[in-house]
Parts: sequence; C-alpha cells; structure tokens
Amino acid sequence: MQDVSVHYELNNTLGIIRIDNPPVNALSQAVRAGIIEALEQARSDSSQMLLVLCAGRTFIAGADITEFGKTPQPPSLPDVIAALEGFPKPVVAALHGTALGGGLELAMACHYRAALPDTRLGLPEVKLGLLPGAGGTQRLPRLVGPELALEMISSGAPITANKALEAGLIDQILEGELEPAAIRWALTLLADSAPVRPTGERPVAAPADTDFLARHLKQNARKHRGQLAPGYIAELVELAQNASLEEGLKRERECFLACKNSPQSAALRHVFFAERATGKLPDIPADTPLRPIKRVAVIGAGTMGGGIAMCFASAGIPVILVETAQDYLDNGLDKIRQNYANSVKRGRFSAEAVAGWLDNISGTLDYADLAEVDLVIEAVFENMAVKKEVFGKLDAACKPGCILATNTSYLDVNAIAAATRRPADVIGAHFFSPANVMKLLEVVRAEKTAADVVQTFMKLARTIGKIPVAVGVCHGFVGNRMLRAYARQAQLLLLEGATPSQVDKAMENWGMAMGPLAVGDLAGLDIGYRSRRDQGIEPRSVLESALADTLVDMDRLGQKSGAGYYRYDPETRARQADPEVDKLLRDIADEWQVPQREIGDEEIVDRLILALVNEGAAILQEGIAARPSDVDIVYINGYGFPSWRGGPMFYADSLGLDTVVARLRELRELTGDDGWEPAPLLLELAAAGNSLASLNGRV
Ligand code: CAA
Repeated sequence: MQDVSVHYELNNTLGIIRIDNPPVNALSQAVRAGIIEALEQARSDSSQMLLVLCAGRTFIAGADITEFGKTPQPPSLPDVIAALEGFPKPVVAALHGTALGGGLELAMACHYRAALPDTRLGLPEVKLGLLPGAGGTQRLPRLVGPELALEMISSGAPITANKALEAGLIDQILEGELEPAAIRWALTLLADSAPVRPTGERPVAAPADTDFLARHLKQNARKHRGQLAPGYIAELVELAQNASLEEGLKRERECFLACKNSPQSAALRHVFFAERATGKLPDIPADTPLRPIKRVAVIGAGTMGGGIAMCFASAGIPVILVETAQDYLDNGLDKIRQNYANSVKRGRFSAEAVAGWLDNISGTLDYADLAEVDLVIEAVFENMAVKKEVFGKLDAACKPGCILATNTSYLDVNAIAAATRRPADVIGAHFFSPANVMKLLEVVRAEKTAADVVQTFMKLARTIGKIPVAVGVCHGFVGNRMLRAYARQAQLLLLEGATPSQVDKAMENWGMAMGPLAVGDLAGLDIGYRSRRDQGIEPRSVLESALADTLVDMDRLGQKSGAGYYRYDPETRARQADPEVDKLLRDIADEWQVPQREIGDEEIVDRLILALVNEGAAILQEGIAARPSDVDIVYINGYGFPSWRGGPMFYADSLGLDTVVARLRELRELTGDDGWEPAPLLLELAAAGNSLASLNGRV
C-alpha cells in the first residue's frame, strides 16, 4: 500500500480494509485511493469476504470537507462506492462512533452492516447546504423506506444503532470490542454463505402514508425557506421510488454539484469550521492547564439563573442556586422542575435522566455555602451597584482560585472585577435566553482576566453544550452592540415611512428567523425601556427610541400585553398589523420633522444588514472579537441570522468589500447620517482588494 491511511490485510478467509485517517477518518483523496487499491488486492487474493472498519474514535464521518473548495481529484467517492457495491465477494462494514455523510453512504454500499451499540448513523449534508452526493438519497430509501429516509436526509439528524437495526439500516449490533466482534460477525456470515447483496438492487418499499412527501413539504416550508438543498432532497427521495438506481444517481449527482457550487454551501461550510475555530485563541496556548470545575454556584434563581443552573446540572455538574429569600428560591426551583418536566413531555429527555439532573441542583440563602465551589456565575438584576455588591460578597465567601463570572449582557466587566481583590479570576459569561436552550455563550475577557480562567471557561462551555466565543469588554460586547446598530435602523426606517410588517417581512424573507420588531414584541418592550432609563436617557428624548417609549407608556409592552408594534390574537398569538401604530408613527415623524417616503425591501435589508457589517468591522478593529468568523458565529447562534448566508462578515465578503463601502456611502448620502461612514477596517481591506476572511487565519 502506498498510503498509510488505508491498510489491507488478509486474515485467513477475511480481507480486512482498515481506514486510519485521524481525527474522524474523513474520506480524503488518499483514503478513497487507498480503498480502491485494497479492493484491487482483494480481488485476486484468497479472501472470501471483505470487512471494512476504522481505527480511532469513529467510523468515517463523511467526505473531507476541506476538499470541497478545491479541484476534485480521482477517484471520486461515487466511483469508490460503485466499486464496493459491485465487488464480486461479499463486503461487510463494522461501524462505531459516528457513521456520517459519505461514511454512511459507503457503509450502505457494503453488502452487510453491523455497529457497536453507541454508534450514531446519519446523513448530515443538509447542514452543510448539501445533499448526500454518493448514492445516499437513493440507497437509504431502499434500506429504510422513503419516509424515514426523507426525515433523516432533510433533518440531517443521526439515529441510534438500535433505531438503525429496527429500520433495517444495519443487520446486527456488535457487543464488546469493535475488531474482534466484527471479525466474529463476519465469520458467521461467511459460515452461513451470505451472498453478495447490492443495496442498489433492492426495491423501495411503498410508504405507509402516500401523502408523506406533500406533508413534509408543507410542514417544513418555513424552516427551509430560501434554502436550495431541502427541495432537491425531497425530489430525490421521490425519484428513488419511481426511477431506476442509475437514473436516481444521475439526478443526485446533478443536484449535489448544484448545491456544492452554491454560495449557500460555501457559507455553511464556513460556519462549520468557524464554529470549531472559536475555541482557538490566538494569544492563549491550547495546552494551558485548566482549573478543575467540579462544583458550581449560580447567584439568582430568576429565568436566567435557573436556565444557567440547568446547563450545568444536565452536564452532570452539581450546582447550588443562591437567592436572597426562600420564596424566590422555591419559585426558581419550581420553574426548573417545570422546564425539565416539559422537555420530558415533549420527548426531548427521559424521565430518569431528568430526575438525575434535578438531583444535581440544590439551593441556599447563605453565601457561606459557597466556600468549596470552583465557579460562581452571577445572574442577578442588570445593575452595576447590585453586581458590585454581589461580587464583594463572593470575594469574601469563595476559596482562592474560584472563578467568578458575571452574566451581564452590557455592563463593564472591568468595573465588576474591580469590586473584588482577585480581578484575574473574574470573567464575563453572557448566556442567551433561554439559557438552557441557546447555544451561544459570549465569554467576556476583562483586562485582568487570567489566561487559564479564559481557557477553562472556553472548554467548560463546550462541556455544557455551548458554542463559546471570546469577546472583549465594551457596551453590549459583540452581539448586543451589533444588535443596537441593527435595531436602530429598524426604528429609523419606521419613522421614514416603512411599517412594522414591511420591515419584518423584508428581513424574514431575506432569511432572518424573525423580524426585528416581532423580536422586540416577543422580548418585551419594557426591557429596552428600563435599560434606557438606567442609562439616564429621558423617555422620548431620542429619535430612534421615541416610538418604543411611546408604546410602553401606552402599556403596549409586546406579546405579553397583547400589543406592541403589532396586535396579537389572544387565542393564536398571531401578529396583526395595527393601524394605530401607523398613525403613531406619522405623528412622531411629524413631531421630529422626519420626511416620510416609500421605502423598498432592498433598502430595508441593506440598512439593517450593512449596519451589522459596519459595526462588526469596528468591533474587529478594536480587538473586541478575535476574528471575523467569531462575529459570524455570534450573530448566527444568538440572533437568528441565517446560517446559509454565513454570518454578517461572510456575507459582506460575498458582496465584495468594494460594493459594501460604496453602498455605505450611498446610504450616508441618502440619509445624511454620519453613522454610515464606512469603518476604517473596511476601507483598508477594500483598498487592498482584501476580504474580511483574510483576517480569519487558521490559529
Ligand atoms: N472533513 C474534514 N474535517 C472534519 C470533518 C470532515 N468531514 N469532520 C470533522 N472534521 C474535523 C473538524 O474540523 C475538527 O478539526 P479541528 O480539530 O482542526 O478543529 C476535527 O475534525 C474534530 O471534529 P470535531 O471538533 O467536530 O469533533 P467532535 O468529536 O465534536 O465531532 C463529528 C465529530 C460528529 C464527526 C463532527 O466533526 C461532525 O459532525 N463532522 C461533520 C460530519 C459531516 O458533516 N459529514 C458529511 C460531510 S459531507 C459529505 O459526506 C458529502 C457527501 O455525501 C459526499
């Protein structure tokens, strides 16, 4: 064998093809070539059956995503798969870890499959803006039926080995150690004279529900809005039922290439690597020793504190919830129980798992109980004086080396750290609401935060299932600072003549999960109102919050009071445009002498998104975020930015920075607002013909 990533060995009657391409045995060109070479060898030797298995922590986790932007090198994956399926001796595959994407497609082309009990099997290509491009859309329906195949391919979610066995995707669960168990299984098949059994020659079973495809399209219309791959996937699963394998594979190839070459897939591949890059900090070595975190405390049993406590409890880390009064504590604990009970009801978790997690949570009113904890997360009222008082008390109560974190979303973490004698142990941990659900965690590095505290927090975030992004101190950090620029444009557009529905629809059609005004109504308009008063801003004294202040003064707080920017149907909670708001807007515009005009959807999208881009560039220039891809991850995971557009910074690159700068200048001209002055970083990069991505590097 030329390449060491695939080894072939003859073990009496069994030819073993062992793939060893760490970390996840991706199907690189070398692996593909190695498999073809192994097949050539096996064709003429005395083997009677071939066994494919993988070294390391997993079976093949898919095609090598790093090769996608490059010129394809032979052999192609479909060729390798055809060679396996058409091999004259039976080929069997033993799976472990994750058999994903091209990895599962390869396994499906083998004649028999077995897996260790904790294996997960799936076709996650849709998450990369792709579809299975090596026969997956045609072979999976032949093995598990069209309904489950469509569900698996269009959700990208993996299934367990047990479910795979039940559905017919695998033939056997292996017990014990992978290789000996796999060999025993293969030898049993051999003893039973198991014949060659090409998956592609099987018929597709008739669906139990003949309307499943139409139902699927209807149910997912909103989720898949604007995306290319899901439509093709539905078409291909339908084709698998009605056409020959050859025809199905041909159309699958066309659709796969269309997706692979699309900007959507480029964006989603960027997101895949960007998500993994956030943990790599340019100035902190990866091998920095971590502080052990075995016990945690959360101060404040409100919605945020309770959600944060659940994150730790669900990850098996004992957590003490601290409150100032017994009834607050009881309410907080009750809310946690309710939240867990709801997830059991919805089938997300088992009752046993939840019972164990609840055992990890205790409560106290006494800071003396925090003497032995390794980490405290403060989640009290967003007020500097209150936070400083809490940190002073924590400083006195906690052992040396305990990390003290604040869940502030705006406040100056340096000032909070200064309330203690150990600012090196103080860090910001900005969770997003609901904290037990939202993936994003902004890890705020204050001036004096120690490197090992940052590194410990970044790793801990992954343990509790979060995507951490390290950010610096400024008002609102990365996400809320950008949100402010974005929301400001929404308000100005309303005063210049757009309606709430028009702004929200334009943004939703562009791909945002929810328009900015609907988001405001959902969160509650009183939150921003209070925050403006805390900052000493008088009600209705600022143009961009004049409408929001007026609405709150009219008791229109958003969904919770039945009206805000919209009216809400009390039964269905459906939003309805409200002529009263349109009139208010005209009155406020008159009062502030803002001329009203017709505004097109394109201007709405440009103004909101380019406000994000310009603010993001300023954030990068100030070093508040380490790299543009970190900004993308914040906005995608915290603010409903469509991942298939890659995040605001990636999107700016896709427009071209020259175009972005020109459009910013046009907007400045149009609105007379100096805020549209392009950020110096954009000017520099555009002048040099460079992209924001050039700053991502590969740390
Ligand atoms: N190609 C290239 N690199 C990959 C990769 C792939 N398919 N999958 C993972 N990696 C890399 C990651 O970038 C990461 O690299 P760094 O350490 O340098 O950051 C490393 O492998 C480890 O990955 P994770 O940090 O994600 O490790 P994990 O243990 O948390 O998760 C995993 C492992 C579940 C396999 C996860 O990596 C994953 O989901 N991978 C992607 C799977 C996928 O999407 N496969 C489909 C590919 S497309 C395809 O196959 C198309 C086709 O039909 C032909």
